[in-house]
Amino acid sequence: MTTQHASATPDLPLDMIIFGGTGDLSFRKLLPALYMAHLHCNLPTDTRILTIGRKPWSREEYINEFMELKAKPFIEKKAFDAAAWDKFMALFEYVRMDVDSIEDYTRLSEASRPGVRRVFYLATSPDLFTNICDNLSAAGLVDEHSRVVLEKPLGHDLASAQEINTAVGKHFSEAQIYRIDHYLGKETVQNLMVLRFGNPIFGPLWQAPYIKRVQITVAETVGVGSRAGFYDKTGALRDMVQNHLLQLLCIVAMEPPVSLDPDAVRDEKLKVLRSLRPMTPEDIARDTVRGQYTAGAVDGEAVKGYLEEENVPAGSRAETFVALRAHINNWRWANVPFFLRTGKRMQKKVSEIVIEFSELPFSIIPSGGRNYGNRLVIQLQPEESIQLQMLAKEPGSGMHMLPVNLNLDLQQAFTERRAEAYERLLIDVIRGRLTHFMRRDELEAAWAWAEPILAGWSKSGERPRGYTAGTFGPAASTALMARENAVWAEESQ
Ligand code: BG6
Repeated sequence: MTTQHASATPDLPLDMIIFGGTGDLSFRKLLPALYMAHLHCNLPTDTRILTIGRKPWSREEYINEFMELKAKPFIEKKAFDAAAWDKFMALFEYVRMDVDSIEDYTRLSEASRPGVRRVFYLATSPDLFTNICDNLSAAGLVDEHSRVVLEKPLGHDLASAQEINTAVGKHFSEAQIYRIDHYLGKETVQNLMVLRFGNPIFGPLWQAPYIKRVQITVAETVGVGSRAGFYDKTGALRDMVQNHLLQLLCIVAMEPPVSLDPDAVRDEKLKVLRSLRPMTPEDIARDTVRGQYTAGAVDGEAVKGYLEEENVPAGSRAETFVALRAHINNWRWANVPFFLRTGKRMQKKVSEIVIEFSELPFSIIPSGGRNYGNRLVIQLQPEESIQLQMLAKEPGSGMHMLPVNLNLDLQQAFTERRAEAYERLLIDVIRGRLTHFMRRDELEAAWAWAEPILAGWSKSGERPRGYTAGTFGPAASTALMARENAVWAEESQ
């Protein structure tokens, strides 16, 4: 699939139209990100922000009840500037609408200006995407300058994702559609491309047999919080693995793209997704682990189990943890397992990629009976760092080697402000840069691989394995690694 580029005119006046304008994502991420973009003069000079909600608020009520009380606290204190905030507030309009009612779109038509670039940000449940796009189009609000941003998860399986993509595609060309995965907006994730394709030393080594295993972990300490309504229908595989973790896997595994153009990068990621070995029922039983947290303690605080959380249905089988072993069937990666793991209420918050290089075939230097290999650890969160584990001589008489880290602290190396993922991606949407957004075929290939796992789990009739909150997941996840004499990086420290 190739994407014809939509007009990249940078300086049309902008109407940023946010569906779900009174929701969680808006106050936690989108509106603070737009404020930061405004503060750093990254919004077009003539911008307006139209937020859409069902609440019968006036513009002033929206600003007082929502922007001041809910969104403002999510802006970093040191970035807050009262004068800039006042100017930012002047950009806002609140439009009360029922998004399913075609009549209500006349209100939006009246509020949005003619001849501007309209960016429609759909921060709603994906069930509403089709109706919203049909209604926008029927109301004459979509033209060649418009763009639409679709939040994840896009659908709940392959068929629903295809249905939404087809429905949205009736009104927007592929070059106007920005499928967001905020992991692709993270500085460190973008840096991974530079690490791989900017450093010649890694070129020849970045493949089998020099790499023997890859681990990708996104561990969170938070629980499901107030999102049970959404989360219980979704689970960790749909919420995290199908998108964020697979995107990280793609960047680790893809071939060098011919350029950084959107399609060049996305073509290579697509090839990786299509090379993922489909999981058979036997693979699913052997190579996947799903878990659900039970009561425990995180950071010294007692916390509830998932089933005791507010709005979680009794006996829910939603998984809050997934670990699995994936394989990529191509020349570069044949027989190199990719271990993916994510979970809520884990022992610590950490997102990292660990590249385990193969050990020496034979060592002349003693290392206490252990056969160490080199490891490259790319930490994305909470600290941004890259460590290369090397073997060095243990000081003293005799010749013994032990692992030590070459440590690159990116926060110290570059002191510039790091924009949050949403800020960076919103600016990309405004400037028409699609590289860090998912194309339709990519998203569908990710679903095609993930769906049999979901089906296999539901067919098995088994409950997710319990794990105590504040640990690194069920024992079966440790065992998944132990089967090949390996350990998850954080469990070996
Ligand atoms: C979201 C998921 O996409 O990513 C959340 O829906 C998860 O469940 C979040 O907490 C994690 O993002 P980050 O940027 O905090 O790692």
